[in-house]
Order: sequence, then structure tokens, then C-alpha cells
Amino acid sequence: EQIKKGDFDHFMKKEIHEQPDSLTTSMRGRLKDGVVGLGGLKDHMRTIRRSRRIIFIGCGTSYHAALAARPIMEELTDIPVTMEIASDMLDRKALIFKEDTAVFVSQSGETADTLLALEYALQHGALCVGVTNTVGSTLARKTHCGVHINAGCEIGVASTKAYTCQIVVMVMMALAIGSDKMSTLAQREAIIAGLTKLPEKVHDVLKLDGEMKALAQSLIEEQSLLMFGRGNNYATALEGALKVKEVALMHSEGMLAGEMKHGPLALVDEYLPIIVIATHDDSFSKQQSVIQQLHARKGRLIVMCSEGDASLVCPDGRSRVIEVPRVVDCLQPIINIIPMQLLAYHLTVLRGYNVDQPRNLAKSVTTQ
Ligand code: AGP
Repeated sequence: EQIKKGDFDHFMKKEIHEQPDSLTTSMRGRLKDGVVGLGGLKDHMRTIRRSRRIIFIGCGTSYHAALAARPIMEELTDIPVTMEIASDMLDRKALIFKEDTAVFVSQSGETADTLLALEYALQHGALCVGVTNTVGSTLARKTHCGVHINAGCEIGVASTKAYTCQIVVMVMMALAIGSDKMSTLAQREAIIAGLTKLPEKVHDVLKLDGEMKALAQSLIEEQSLLMFGRGNNYATALEGALKVKEVALMHSEGMLAGEMKHGPLALVDEYLPIIVIATHDDSFSKQQSVIQQLHARKGRLIVMCSEGDASLVCPDGRSRVIEVPRVVDCLQPIINIIPMQLLAYHLTVLRGYNVDQPRNLAKSVTTQ
């Protein structure tokens, strides 16, 4: 086992640091001369483009990856995208039609809830697409078509590199499905250029390891941690909080910043740590206003912002600031989750818990 971990103490840490390579592998052979080629979807592209909606379905981290890719999928395809947590879709017997494209996202390809939702969608005649890391998995075999994320074997129960590769694959899917639209050509070119530079930017953000360890040190005694995000980074808040709760065994909630004043604001005081994701995208000015409102209530803030924006998010120097490299908006969730993964990792080690095998959890949940 130690040989497989290489220079790292834990699989989670190794897998976090592998992300520049896993992302490179995910994109390999799929971006040629500014065009995205996804062989697994080729024969079904016409049906996907004509679908009345796209439904993203998954559990846990895989659901969050789909949520992160949702805005760009809608923007580039002009097809409405709805989200379903697999168990909830089954509980509600959600409406699904043969004109729908159902995209099932699962690292293992063996999650029971996701596979049952797949059976349900197949029975209702939807086109079923798989996004998985596991070649030959039930999900890969039972869907009509799909894309492998090629993240490499993920051993830590906390999914890290699979999450970022899932997002990259779904962004590439959005580019491929929307490639018949001239109106978005410049935007698609900018995203493809961003994808090419992404592994290098991920390498840069990993340099925050020491800073995140110091932040974890300041939080080890806390009972609770909130994370506020919105737009492209709502998923980052949910996923960051899931990482903290599942490995560091600390209560943590990811919240939509737009919902703050509808309840969560009552929790704010000078003690509760709150991470606000405020990187520079079209939600930035709204997040600046959230920060001001939290400051007005003496909130204890940790603000994640784009490099060079520290004085914009924290003019009086009162908050702790984490600066991350800026990339195109739809890829920013990939950069932003990495400090949160590192924070969860260090919190777990410092609190003395099992990083790779948290209590009560299994890597793949094969029962309902
Ligand atoms: C991730 O850190 C979790 N362990 C969990 O939420 C996981 O993502 C979920 O169980 C879905 O697994 P899958 O991707 O293999 O379907």
C-alpha cells in the first residue's frame, strides 16, 4: 500500500496532487485543433441536440460535479438542464420523457441509487448517457453511450481527482453538443484555450497547500463551518462542505449565497467561520455585497478570491483571504475546489481522523 502511495502519507493527498496529470489524461486526444471530439457521443449527437431537456443525475460528489457543469451546459447548448439526486428522483418517481437526455454521473459506475435511476430512465425511453471513471462498470454497460473521465484509479473514499475530471468532461460535452452554434464560437474558443492551460493553473493552486494547512490549524477546534457560493461556484460550496464533513467529521454546510438573507444570516456572529467564494466572474459584485453584509454582522470570514482581488474583497484587511488563479468562468470551480480539498485533508490529519477510510462510509455505495 505504501508503494502505491508514493511520497504521500495518504491516498487522498496523493489524489489531490495528481490532479494536473489526471486532468491532462481526461482531455488527452479529445481536444484537437480547437475542436472537441468525444467518440462515445458521436453517434447520438443528433438526438442529444434535439432533446427537450438534459437531466443530470448522480449522488454526492458526482452530483456536485454535474451541478458545476450545469451553467455552461445550458449556455452553450440552449437546452434546459435540470438536476436530480438519484435517490430523490426515485422517491418522487420524477417525470421523465423519451425526448429527454439523461446524463448519469458516477465515479464508480456502481452506485445503487444511480443505477436504479438509470433503470427508471431506460424504462421511460430517455436517451441515457454515462459519465464514469470505471471502464466496464454497470453504468458504462447499461447506458446508450457515454464518456469515460479517465481520472485513474481513485482509492480515497473522499472523491477529489474524479470530481475535477468529471467537470472537465462535462464542459467538453457542452462544447461538443453546442459546437453547431456560430453565436458562441468566440466563447468556445476561449474555453478550449482555458482547458489547454488548466493543468498548469491547477499545479499553481496546489502551492496553497501550506496556507491551507495553516488555515486548518486555526479551525481544528471548531464545531461548524459554512461555505457560501453562487453561480458556477454554488457547487464548490456544496462540495467543499461535503469534503469537510465526510473526512474531518466536522459539521459543515455549503449554501447558495443568494439564500443567505432568507435564513442563514441569523447564524452569523464573530465566532462561526464562514468561507465565501468570491472569485472574479459575473457573480462577483453580488458576492462583494454578501461580504459587506456579513461584515456588518461581524462575521468571521475567510474569502476566496482571484489573484490580485484581495483589496476588493477585503478593503480593511479584516478577513483572511485565499487568492487563487483566475481561469474562464466555467473552469473556475475546478481551481476553487482544490484549496477546499486541501483544507479538508489537513483538518482531518490535525484532528486525528482516518483520511482514506472515514467511519461509516464506503467508496462505492452499492446498496440502497
Ligand atoms: C465523495 O467524496 C463521496 N464519497 C460520495 O459522495 C460519492 O461521490 C457518492 O457516493 C457517489 O459515488 P459515485 O460517484 O461512485 O457514484
